[in-house]
Amino acid sequence: MSTNAKVEVLGKSDNPAPADLSTAALSALYRIDEFEEIARSKLSEMAFAYYAGSAGDGRTLMRNRSAWEELSIWYRVMVDVSSRSTATTLFDKSMAFPLLSAPTALHKMAHPDGELATVRACGSAGIPMVVSSLSTTTIEEICAASTGPVYFQIYIGQDRGFVKELVQRVERAGCAGLQLTVDAPVWGLREREMKTGFRVPEHLTIANLQRTDHLGPTGHVGVGIAETLGWTITPSLKWQDLEWMVALTKLPVMLKGVCRADDAVTAVRHGARGIVVSNHGGRQLDGAPATAEALPRITEAVASRVPVIVDGGIRRGLDILRALALGATAVQVGRPILWGLSVAGEAGVRRVLEILSSDFDRSMALAGCSTVASITRDLLHPRG
Ligand SMILES: Cc1cc2nc3c(=O)[nH]c(=O)nc-3n(C[C@H](O)[C@H](O)[C@H](O)COP(=O)(O)O)c2cc1C
Repeated sequence: MSTNAKVEVLGKSDNPAPADLSTAALSALYRIDEFEEIARSKLSEMAFAYYAGSAGDGRTLMRNRSAWEELSIWYRVMVDVSSRSTATTLFDKSMAFPLLSAPTALHKMAHPDGELATVRACGSAGIPMVVSSLSTTTIEEICAASTGPVYFQIYIGQDRGFVKELVQRVERAGCAGLQLTVDAPVWGLREREMKTGFRVPEHLTIANLQRTDHLGPTGHVGVGIAETLGWTITPSLKWQDLEWMVALTKLPVMLKGVCRADDAVTAVRHGARGIVVSNHGGRQLDGAPATAEALPRITEAVASRVPVIVDGGIRRGLDILRALALGATAVQVGRPILWGLSVAGEAGVRRVLEILSSDFDRSMALAGCSTVASITRDLLHPRG
């Protein structure tokens, strides 16, 4: 057993099937769910269960999707939408449309090109990538391959010296900001991971967390994410710890994993420069509200003081429109990127982003919106 974050491989092949879908086959895919079905057939049972899985009974995972679908859009008519722009900005950096690739772990388990494929696809689509601290490629390599903004997701782990060094590395690499994830004081109950014997595959490393003196109590050999990477999180975080991180860096720190308006307001008071409304894609507290339910309370309480991003269950351009109507600055998608990557690497992620972008543009036109600024709350709750 090696002394870094490599661990034993169990189960059948953890290498994704080699053949990527052809460009022609990709262009015949229109739904994110189709990508998921193909990914299921290509990935090992263990890898698919890790990506698709949720905490507990998956109530929050399911609600994340259905809560968006339940929001009717009261479209406007007789608006000139012949010329439209989906462009927007986040921290003064332009985005072709209001979407970021959410931080998700272990991209090389989906495709050998891993995070480099994702960052290139995001660059081509003109949107930012948020890199997971559990990425399988170093932040330096990812930033070097990027053509657009890259953000870094971070946990405050148990060794503050290590976290501080990591923040400095991320700054030096040229990242545009941090997402500090705080919905994981402990890992959620991931029964599916336990059942499929989840291990980080032997040929992969958790590239940014390589320090031999930071092996977890089990030497990263445990079953499930909890035992394997438990040392990267800490259950004792308080608001002062957010202040500590804000003071460490000039980069804007967003707080990721917020569902309550009072927490969002407190976060801004303690220096957060953005809020990410998220329940970790239903992977942490099962029973947490859907993010579509949490979002309007938070945007109202934060009142445009900082950008509010939302993720969880966004699968259609229509959902992006709904989120913006509820006051979000932008949305993030997690699993859709992983499905695109599994299906055809960079080209697969590009196709997923193309589907979401063109569907968002079409939804704007049908709703009577020619700019992102014209997507307002009355689309969901008209007066009278
Ligand atoms: C396989 C997987 C790994 C994830 N890894 C991380 C992570 O390392 N850090 C983090 O803050 N969130 C992580 N998330 C949560 C995502 O950032 C995001 O909140 C979630 O995927 C959004 O839901 P969606 O998958 O329905 O789009 C992960 C999600 C998935 C599905």
